[in-house]
Amino acid sequence: MKSIVKEIEETLERFHPDAHCEETGKVMEIGDGVARIEGLRTVRLNEMIDFGAGIMGMALNLEENSVSAVVLSHANTIREGQTVRATGRLLEIPCGRAMLGRVVDPLGRPLDGKGPIDTSEVNPIERPAPGIIGRQSVAAPLQTGLLAVDAVVPIGRGQRELIIGDRSTGKTAIAIDAIINQARLNREAEVEGNTKVHPVYSVYVAIGQRQSSVAQVVRALEETGALKYTVIVCANAADSAAMQYLAPFSGTAIGEWFMDRGMDALLVYDDLSKHAVAYRQMSLVLRRPSGREAYPGDIFYLHSRLLERSACLSKAHGGGTLTSLPIIETQNGDVSAYIPTNVISITDGQIYLESDLFHQGIRPAMSVGISVSRVGSAAQTKAMKSVAGKVKLELAQYYEMKAFAQFGSDLDAKTVALIEHGKRITELFKQTQYNPIPVEDQVAQLWAAQHGVFADSPVEKTHETRDRWLDFIRRKNAELLPRIKTERKVTPEIQSALEAVLAEFKQV
Ligand SMILES: Nc1ncnc2c1ncn2[C@@H]1O[C@H](COP(=O)(O)OP(=O)(O)O)[C@@H](O)[C@H]1O
Ligand SMILES: [Mg+2]
Repeated sequence: MKSIVKEIEETLERFHPDAHCEETGKVMEIGDGVARIEGLRTVRLNEMIDFGAGIMGMALNLEENSVSAVVLSHANTIREGQTVRATGRLLEIPCGRAMLGRVVDPLGRPLDGKGPIDTSEVNPIERPAPGIIGRQSVAAPLQTGLLAVDAVVPIGRGQRELIIGDRSTGKTAIAIDAIINQARLNREAEVEGNTKVHPVYSVYVAIGQRQSSVAQVVRALEETGALKYTVIVCANAADSAAMQYLAPFSGTAIGEWFMDRGMDALLVYDDLSKHAVAYRQMSLVLRRPSGREAYPGDIFYLHSRLLERSACLSKAHGGGTLTSLPIIETQNGDVSAYIPTNVISITDGQIYLESDLFHQGIRPAMSVGISVSRVGSAAQTKAMKSVAGKVKLELAQYYEMKAFAQFGSDLDAKTVALIEHGKRITELFKQTQYNPIPVEDQVAQLWAAQHGVFADSPVEKTHETRDRWLDFIRRKNAELLPRIKTERKVTPEIQSALEAVLAEFKQV
């Protein structure tokens, strides 16, 4: 079936045979990185404009007698009256495997000093999202390796899960850990020669951050061996608003290259609050009317158009997936501001991070009560589902009872047990950075929690007991954890093997 866009393009070409030929125009006005150009009659939205000397621009406002284009670099060298050329090509970015392990700007130019990127493939940075027919529902898990996330808000391949919280609540940390876990799984599959496991390639898009923060992320990925499976697209705070505006679209185009070829990709947009600010700045200099909080009226459309491109393609379309983790930074926990509510409504769930929890030492600082994944347990293995199914409810009850218990009233034994259990799960969910937990270990830990392994020792000893428990399983039954991984469910045999190990564990 031919897409509508293709059809329109072909029609245009038929009636305006010169639509794609190169055209020249004249810069009438230049200021704030925006050039108003006359003479480009057939230029298209997002078309590349050549200002000469390697300077590129992008046509954004198509008016009756003129075109406004943002200049992507060195805008101060452009003079009024100079001639420019419309290229007839929409903005494109280099793609392909050669991009892995590299740090590039939103036009795909290397920033890491590792030389040119050897690829001839390009993708347009904007293109329509896959339609409904081309998709299937999300079914395969994308394991982050963070116990709290994988147990309570499981993410599926092709899903969009928002990470939202104030500054310094560990938003970037969660996304980076997710990338590191994909690399760990990729490596594991390579070592085992397991071709059934689909590798996940990651794209980390840094928007409007300090250069030092991005350098830190690159270093963390390098040190954990994850960089070789990752592309980093970066438009720093010092770059122009136009570059920051482009960055997430470029990152998406790079991710789509993998999805189009039946592979799986994970995209992190860090963060879309800064993206919105860059777009607001750009729109103001383009003299577009502004709306709520001075953002342009089409900011919702901008982000939905971006996030709609994440998808789980149907088998007929190759079965590739593009999962995205957009990040939003809130001010004083205000999730009801304009941009946060927009992005919340576009995504399939959100991980809420809270400063209070972070400062109490609960890290990741995920608020279990209000974090959700609308794809939910469809994206969990059966094993995980069987042990994690009750956790969210148990924690919700725990928080309710905890508030109640503060009044010092007498509690019945059942409530006390519930609170003690909740404390231990909360403790179990604490996890240091760069330390992803494999799914089989996650299952064994949650199984242990459900079977009272941690109940007898003090809360502070939970991690110690957990480590002893996992060691004990490995020593007593070396096959058990690998079997949980390959069988993907707690079969009756695995259940009784775990029970046998538990009986021995209780005696020591
Ligand atoms: N699970 C964790 N354990 C310990 N420290 C963490 C954890 N998550 C984040 N941090 C630390 O907290 C700080 C803020 O994290 P970061 O991810 O940069 O926050 P944000 O992106 O929300 O501003 C960083 O110094 C980071 O190393
Ligand atoms: Mg951050």
